[in-house]
Parts: sequence; structure tokens; C-alpha cells
Amino acid sequence: MPDRVAVVVGAGGDIGGACARRLARTHGAVLCVDRDPARVAPAGWARTLTADAADPAFADTVVAAAAGIGPVGAVVHAVAFEEHAPAVTVTRASVERSLAVGPLAALSLFRGLVAAEALAAGASLVAIGSLHATVPFPDCVGYNAAHGALAQIVRTLAHEWAPRRIRVNAVVPGWIRTAGEAGLYGDGHLDRVAALLPLGRFGTAEDVAAAVGYVCSDEAGYVSGSFLTVDGGLGASLARLPGGAA
Ligand SMILES: NC(=O)c1ccc[n+]([C@@H]2O[C@H](COP(=O)([O-])OP(=O)(O)OC[C@H]3O[C@@H](n4cnc5c(N)ncnc54)[C@H](O)[C@@H]3O)[C@@H](O)[C@H]2O)c1
Repeated sequence: MPDRVAVVVGAGGDIGGACARRLARTHGAVLCVDRDPARVAPAGWARTLTADAADPAFADTVVAAAAGIGPVGAVVHAVAFEEHAPAVTVTRASVERSLAVGPLAALSLFRGLVAAEALAAGASLVAIGSLHATVPFPDCVGYNAAHGALAQIVRTLAHEWAPRRIRVNAVVPGWIRTAGEAGLYGDGHLDRVAALLPLGRFGTAEDVAAAVGYVCSDEAGYVSGSFLTVDGGLGASLARLPGGAA
């Protein structure tokens, strides 16, 4: 039995996949969870589970699978549902899906693992957050609301579970150049945008995974309730607007 297991939800995505590979360096096994079985392949260190975060049975399914492998030392929630539509026309079902896939799934999974006593001593729970938790993405009310709620869940659980020595944090990416972003905007557009970003490039999934690796390490043993931003200064770049410092 592995001494410590990591669980990554959304492991078939660019960010989730990079987190899974990063945590495989420090954990004996990684349970890679995704709704699309084609996106996650079993490997020596990777066990796979097909599950949809919006499913009410999601948390129970993941908890049972993880507990069957070994004590869980790290969990990363790296999925969101994002529909672009004006707030006046977006459907209630779309907003509900954003809330179900994001904050509700993360909360259900985290507390399911606690209730089942499936966590290893000093476990680290991580939500992949978003700058849009506080700065709204236009025409994306469900996504913005979901990330706002997720941030408050991180704070609440960090407070409530500190006596259990469970650490809860968010890693907050800026704009990460993933396959999904390339599909949405096109590589030509992204190349032009890259030059305008504060550090002259997009973030990579590995940039995010490195931060996740840190908050899941013993070196971060005193880090909880924290929001580790990995945005290359994007959130601080409002100063570049007309009237601000260059
Ligand atoms: N890409 C960015 O620029 C960026 C920026 C900030 C925050 N984020 C956040 O990072 C996280 C991951 O984003 P990404 O860009 O890597 O996404 P992605 O679309 O590349 O990957 C998401 C993965 O999750 C899986 N998935 C989607 N819905 C699911 C569900 N309901 N149940 C189970 N699996 C599901 C998909 O099959 C896919 O493999 C999200 O929370 C997103 O909000 C991304």
C-alpha cells in the first residue's frame, strides 16, 4: 500500500495533468479523476477513475476509490464549468452546473474524505482558484460566482479544520496557455496577447503545478488559508491602465 496517495480532480486537463505528474514525485500513487476516460491513462503511479464532479454521488465515489488505495496526503480540485453568456440570458441550469462542478464538488469531496477519516496526518487540500473570484470575467457570471464561492470555502475549511491539522489552500493561476485556451482564442491571438502580459508570456500548467507541489510539501507545513497567486503579475497590472504607472 502506498504511504501517501494524492487525488487530482480534472487530471485529464493541462493544469490537473501537470499537478498529477508533480505530485507523483512525492506521493506513492496518484488517483487521477476525470469525467472523460480518454484524457487520463493509467501509469505506474497513476490510478484512474471516471467520475463527473456535477454528479451528487461524485464525492462518495472518489472517497471510496481513494481510501481503497491508501491514506490521502494531498487533494487537488482542478475543474470548473464555464459558459460565456450575458447574465440576463444565461440559464439557471448553466449557473447551477458551475456551482456544482466547482465549489459544491470541492466541498463535498474534502468533507467526505474528512468524514471517512481517509486523510493522512498533515494532509493538504488544494483548490485551483481564479483571479475571477474577485475580478469578474465579462459574460461569465456562473464561473465568477463559482470561483468566489470556492475561495470562501477554502477560507472556511482552513479555519474549521486547523485543529485537525488539515491545511486548506488555493493556488490561483493567471492566464495559463492550455489546449482549451488555444481552442477558444486561437494560437495567433494568444501569441499577440503574450507580448502584452506583464512578464511577456503566458503561464504554463507546470508553473501552477510547481505551486501546488509547494503547498502539498512539508516545507509549506505552516501555510493554510492561503491564496498562492501564479499570474506573472497580471492581477497587479491595473497600474498599467491609462493614468497608472507604466
Ligand atoms: N486555463 C487558465 O487560464 C485558468 C486560469 C485560472 C484558473 N483556471 C482554473 O484551473 C482549473 C483547470 O482549468 P484547465 O484550463 O486546466 O481546464 P481544462 O479544460 O484544460 O481541463 C479540465 C479537465 O477537467 C475535466 N472535467 C471538466 N469538467 C469535469 C467534471 N464535471 N467532472 C470531472 N472532470 C471534469 C475535463 O475533462 C478536463 O480533462 C479550473 O478550475 C479553471 O477554472 C484555469
